[in-house]
Amino acid sequence: MLRTDDVRVHFEGVRAIDGVSLSVDRGEILGLIGPNGAGKTTLVNVISGIQPPDSGTVRLGEDDITAWAPPRRARAGLGRTFQGARLFDRLSVEENVEAAAVSAGLRRRAARARTDELLAIFRLEDVAHRDASTLPHGTARRLGVARALAVAPIYVLLDEPAAGLDEEESRELVALLRDIRDRYEVGLVVIEHDVPLIMALCERIHVLHHGETLAVGAPAAIAKDPQVIDAYLGEAGHQEVPGAGG
Ligand SMILES: Nc1ncnc2c1ncn2[C@@H]1O[C@H](COP(=O)(O)OP(=O)(O)OP(=O)(O)O)[C@@H](O)[C@H]1O
Ligand SMILES: [Mg+2]
Repeated sequence: MLRTDDVRVHFEGVRAIDGVSLSVDRGEILGLIGPNGAGKTTLVNVISGIQPPDSGTVRLGEDDITAWAPPRRARAGLGRTFQGARLFDRLSVEENVEAAAVSAGLRRRAARARTDELLAIFRLEDVAHRDASTLPHGTARRLGVARALAVAPIYVLLDEPAAGLDEEESRELVALLRDIRDRYEVGLVVIEHDVPLIMALCERIHVLHHGETLAVGAPAAIAKDPQVIDAYLGEAGHQEVPGAGG
């Protein structure tokens, strides 16, 4: 299990995360939702090691990884994507995936094999030799997810993977993420503002609001939760702009 216990992150007076305990199992798809500024990205940054927490712990299986640097976490099985694509623009599609695999400690041959497998799964074979910078948006998004999987992860953190995708592309992404979960038995933490997508994709949803946990539960229960409707899913929720908080 991957979990945080009572994590706090304060930025000069802003309580970005204020005592959040979250868990995800291997093979589970957990949605992480909440209004802009709720603390979703900050929590994922804490889990992946980019943001040290002021207090609280992050555990990966039996290990307390709170003090581990990001590369060590990646080698231990934590993959992630970033809000916004963040690809290596000068590298080809194939090189983007392979570089991620190698940087996570896979040997050349294993990295190569993993890359070929992922390019096939993500239907990126036809564009394997194109510069990442020349890809259409939807394809670049798929590459972002493929890169996160290149590290042979046990858990993958996805920060708004469907941002800017049209309905067809979003549906494809849901199918891909399910396939990946089934194939590799990874646990996924998915941040998304696309509520229908998150409801369709996830087995469990964790709702953040002002840096605190507002609710955790099955999609059907979350959709009916009056506090969640008030804070996010109701009228105000419809005005949320994906990624507006950067
Ligand atoms: N490096 C930082 N320095 C200061 N404040 C920050 C920093 N990073 C985030 N914050 C603040 O912490 C709060 C949580 O931000 P965070 O980016 O985690 O929210 P989010 O839920 O991911 O929002 P969005 O849905 O817009 O991406 C916000 O008030 C934000 O302005
Ligand atoms: Mg965010």
